[in-house]
Amino acid sequence: MKSRILGTGSYVPKRVLSNADLEKMVATSDAWIVERTGIRERRLAAPGEACSDLGTHAAQQALAEAKVQASELDLILVATCTGDSPLPATACRIQHRLGALQAAACDISAACCGFLYALSVADAYVKTGHRYVLVIGSEVMSTVMDWTDRKTCVLFGDGAGAVVVGRGEGGNGILSIHLHADGHLSDLIFIPGGGSTIPASENMLAQRLQYMKMKGNETFKIAVKTMEDAAREALTANALTVEEVDLFVPHQANFRILKAVAQRLGLPLDRIAINLDRFGNTSAASIPLALDEAVRAGQVKEGSLILLAAFGAGLTWASGVIRW
Ligand code: UT7
Repeated sequence: MKSRILGTGSYVPKRVLSNADLEKMVATSDAWIVERTGIRERRLAAPGEACSDLGTHAAQQALAEAKVQASELDLILVATCTGDSPLPATACRIQHRLGALQAAACDISAACCGFLYALSVADAYVKTGHRYVLVIGSEVMSTVMDWTDRKTCVLFGDGAGAVVVGRGEGGNGILSIHLHADGHLSDLIFIPGGGSTIPASENMLAQRLQYMKMKGNETFKIAVKTMEDAAREALTANALTVEEVDLFVPHQANFRILKAVAQRLGLPLDRIAINLDRFGNTSAASIPLALDEAVRAGQVKEGSLILLAAFGAGLTWASGVIRW
C-alpha cells in the first residue's frame, strides 16, 4: 500500500514587498536581486500574523480539496523554523484552530527540507495503518530577517502550503522519499541567538543574534550539488529517467540554483515549477506552496510523475517522487 496526497492548499499574506521597496531599506537594487536570484517580490505577514495563522489557512484549503474533515485527522505535522513561539508546538495551535480533536500534533525542524521530512513521517504513519495526516509547511521568515543585512533580507518571504496524506490506490502515491543531513555544515545558515546556546537577553538583541546569518556563496555551491544528487537518487531508486518526470517541484531558493540543477539533470525549464519571482524563499513552505499552485494551474494530473527536491540549513537535503 502507498500513501497519497489527497488535497493541497496554500496561503500567502496580502502585503507585497517589492525589490523597489527594498531599495529604500538597504543598499541594493532591483537589477542585482533579479539578476542574482530571480526574485522580484515577496509577501510579508502583517504584525501579529503568526505561523499558525498562515498554516491554518493553507490547511483549511487542503482539507476542503481532500474532502477530509479536521475531526478525521490522526496527526498534524508543521514543518517550520519560525513557529509561533518556542513552546508549544505550532501544530498544537493549528490543531485547536481546526478542531482536529483526535489528531496528535508536533512540529518538525529541518529548515527548507522540513516539508519533505514531515511528508516522510506522514508516509510512514499512513503505511502503518493511520488514515489521514495533515502536513503543513508554514514560515514567517520576515521575523528572523535582519532588515539591515542586504545579503539575506532580499531573499526570503512568508507563506504556507499544506497537503492531506491518506491511503493510495493502485500504484499511485508517494513512491519514495530520501532524507539527508550533514551537521558539520551547520554554521552555513543559522540563527545564533534565542535558543539554549545564547538565550534571549539584551546583549543578544544588541548583537542582532536573533536574526538569520548565512554564508550565501558557500551554500550556493553545495545547494546545486545536493539538489542534483538528491534528484538523481530519487529517480534511480524508482528506476525512472529524467525524461519521465512531468514536473519538478524544487525548493525555491534562487533561480540560478534551479537553472544549474536543471541543466545538470537535463531537465527543460518548462517542466519546473517556479514561483520564487513572486514569493522568494519561503523555506519549509516553498515546496507545498509551489505544488499547490501547480495543482491549481492544472499542471498536475492523475498519473503525473512529480519530482521534489530541497536543501537547506542543517545542512539538510532531501528528495521525493510522487505518482499523482
Ligand atoms: O534555502 C536555502 C537558503 N540559502 C540559499 O539559497 C543561499 C544560496 N546562495 C545564494 O543564493 C547566493 O549566494 C546569494 C544570492 C545569497 C548571493 O549571490 P552571489 O552571486 O553568491 O553574491 P556574493 O555573495 O558573491 O556577493 C557578490 C557581491 C558582494 O559584493 P563585493 O564583495 O563583490 O563588493 C556582495 O556584498 O554582491 C554584494 N551583495 C549585494 N549587492 C546588492 C550581496 N547582497 C547584495 C544585495 N544587493 N542584496
